[in-house]
Amino acid sequence: MSLIFSGIQPTGNLHLGNYLGAIRNWVRLQDDHDCLFCVVDMHAITLWQEPADLHRATREVTAALMAAGIDPEKHILFNQSQVPQHAELAWIFNCVARVGWLNRMTQFKEKAGKHKEKASVGLYVYPTLMAADILAYKATHVPVGEDQKQHLELAQQIAAKFNHDYDTDLFPELEPLIFGEGTRVMSLRDGSSKMSKSDTSDYSRINMTDDVDTITHKIRKARTDPHPLPDNPEVFDDRPEAGNLVAIYAALAERTRAEVLAEWGGANFADFKQALAELAAEVLGPINAEMNRLMADPAAIDAVLGRGARRARELAEPVVEEVYNTVGFVRPGAS
Ligand code: TYM
Repeated sequence: MSLIFSGIQPTGNLHLGNYLGAIRNWVRLQDDHDCLFCVVDMHAITLWQEPADLHRATREVTAALMAAGIDPEKHILFNQSQVPQHAELAWIFNCVARVGWLNRMTQFKEKAGKHKEKASVGLYVYPTLMAADILAYKATHVPVGEDQKQHLELAQQIAAKFNHDYDTDLFPELEPLIFGEGTRVMSLRDGSSKMSKSDTSDYSRINMTDDVDTITHKIRKARTDPHPLPDNPEVFDDRPEAGNLVAIYAALAERTRAEVLAEWGGANFADFKQALAELAAEVLGPINAEMNRLMADPAAIDAVLGRGARRARELAEPVVEEVYNTVGFVRPGAS
């Protein structure tokens, strides 16, 4: 059976892109697979985080995952910093990955902006820690949104080079799982940039914590064009904002864009936006309520993370031990 690993950063608000691109797929995969879901607090500090904000966001993201349907009894839910094997393996991978490979990472370029030399070293080696997250468990399948694809290709490259250099088959091949109509949810204000926690305009995204009125207001204000909805999705190349709203509707309704347009083709956007707002509120409302309920008991959330971390350590420890032996580090008791 394949082992699933995925991660999410506790920075700022979770939004509809996180939910449709990742979290909802994680919930589905739980039925047929063993899964590890990690709140990646060590990745978060590659950009500055106020300690109190990071602390609160780690609990909030954990509560959101549980509210969305992640089951911490059947699967493993934990925060990264409680499992030292991630950082240990990341160091090994820093010595396997090549500077040229990291130089190609588009997300570093985006996040570092114009002042690359002022970015943290952690931001630069972010993808090697991500590779370590997955490979510390020899996980094989990684459900993510489209934006993480390049990082996963790098993780595959690192695993292959490690296996080659040390003449071993220690690490398995990885398979990204990018599926559904919501793999790349775009900003509500600009159809050419993705919906993101770091966008300065809150109107660009629907947060998982937004109430019904806010969701309705943001969708009503979302950018579109003056034309009615088309009959088929092919025309969306020239109408990115319209295409984005239809993709969001399809993902929320668990239908294809073609099915949505079969129903809505020819309609005007005002009616469609109203239906979309109702659908989004219907999906997010119960998650929001459950999240608030869970957040009222932070000690229970910490206990979930603590238990998850213990189980994660048990799995990761022998893998890192195997890596250390392979590399040639002296270990007591090892031959
Ligand atoms: P993060 O925290 O930015 O996002 C969490 C997940 O949400 C997806 N996502 C989106 N999907 C569709 N449309 C969007 N607009 C959108 N925005 C975000 C992301 O693709 C992701 O799946 N580096 C990762 C976290 C990570 C990780 C890992 C993931 C750390 N280690 C190991 C997989 C395996 C990140 O920053 O995700």
